[in-house]
Amino acid sequence: MKRLSILGSTGMIGRSTLDIVRRYPRRYKIAALAAGANFELLAEQIREFHPSFVSLRDKAAAERLEQRLVGRRPRVGFGPEGAEEAGGRDGVDLVVSAITGIAGLRPTLAAVRAGRRVALANKESMVAAGPILRREAARSGAVIIPVDSEHSGVFQCLAGLERDYVHKVILTASGGPFLDTPLRELGKKTVREALRHPRWKMGRKVTIDSATLMNKGLELIEARWLFDLDPARLGVLIHPQSIVHALVETIDGSVLAQMSATDMRIPIQYALTYPARAAAPVPALDLAAAARLDFRAVDERRFPLLGTARAAMIEGGAAPVVLNAANEAAVEAFLDGRIGFGGIADVVGAVMAAYRPAAVDGLESVFAVDRRARERARHIIERRS
Ligand SMILES: NC(=O)c1ccc[n+]([C@@H]2O[C@H](COP(=O)([O-])OP(=O)(O)OC[C@H]3O[C@@H](n4cnc5c(N)ncnc54)[C@H](OP(=O)(O)O)[C@@H]3O)[C@@H](O)[C@H]2O)c1
Repeated sequence: MKRLSILGSTGMIGRSTLDIVRRYPRRYKIAALAAGANFELLAEQIREFHPSFVSLRDKAAAERLEQRLVGRRPRVGFGPEGAEEAGGRDGVDLVVSAITGIAGLRPTLAAVRAGRRVALANKESMVAAGPILRREAARSGAVIIPVDSEHSGVFQCLAGLERDYVHKVILTASGGPFLDTPLRELGKKTVREALRHPRWKMGRKVTIDSATLMNKGLELIEARWLFDLDPARLGVLIHPQSIVHALVETIDGSVLAQMSATDMRIPIQYALTYPARAAAPVPALDLAAAARLDFRAVDERRFPLLGTARAAMIEGGAAPVVLNAANEAAVEAFLDGRIGFGGIADVVGAVMAAYRPAAVDGLESVFAVDRRARERARHIIERRS
């Protein structure tokens, strides 16, 4: 029986992970859960899965949770320290890292430092602190298994393939809801329209990132560190059906593809069972019904943030930290109605243009760069609104 800690248990990835645990009650036991503000759902999860430790984002949410609990109670923590405890908790075999944004970094690092197996969905931590996470994993022996469908695809295609034989790794992107929207209309798109993703059901932040294609930019940087790949070997292709998740081109002209149904429970389950496999949690992929697989190049006039992210990946150092922080601030402002859809790329572009290269050699410098970039983004957002 594997003991799991789920960081972000009330989110889309966290809930999908619990669906898998429900299917295999003899294989998995929930040891810890961490969430943000949704104490009602966390209370239900406690009743069903009986973790010994839970945490919420702040003290007020933790107190409201305590008032709801009856009978067998877990210990309740809160704040960044609570999430970190859930990440690094003793006796846990596998940590699912699925808090959204930079808030996921400290608990993910705690899990890595504790030498746990980490099923990583929180791409922002790998974007902001890829070299730190890699270094700490090498020290502790932690194994990081990707949950993102594209990275799970790359991970599976690379299995048993000597790195010298890899020519290129390509991540696919559905293109989101605005793939064919006339360019002049893009800037006016509403929050409701941007949240209507054609293929995937995801949390709000990652759904907006998919509409701007920043999600793919963050995924390039995530892949760069997860698989230790030279940025020149990483590419993106638009594939609206979201059936092929990743492609690996070998030096002799073969292209390996990983395909599966568009359901995150498939890569989540693989991250839990790896290297074993278990029966699919969803109906098998029906390629005859799908009938066609389309691919096209990315139009970077439509998706300028992909180019911005690629430049940050190539530059390295503090650039990806600044990119991620500016994007988190801009997406939050868009979701709150303070800037329009077109403003997201403008704000991120302005923050990137103003930043001065800096080294990030440890967690504290990552957070210092992150804070400054957020302040700058907020300032730009205030001036616009
Ligand atoms: N959904 C997908 O298909 C998908 C695919 C690949 C990768 N990812 C990545 O996985 C991560 C999660 O995505 P999601 O779609 O599951 O997002 P989501 O539905 O918005 O869930 C986010 C989770 O993080 C929790 N949270 C937010 N801020 C927190 C904080 N400061 N402290 C503790 N917990 C906090 C939320 O808690 P409350 O809800 O209780 O506030 C929730 O449980 C993101 O990094 C995303 O990019 C998602």
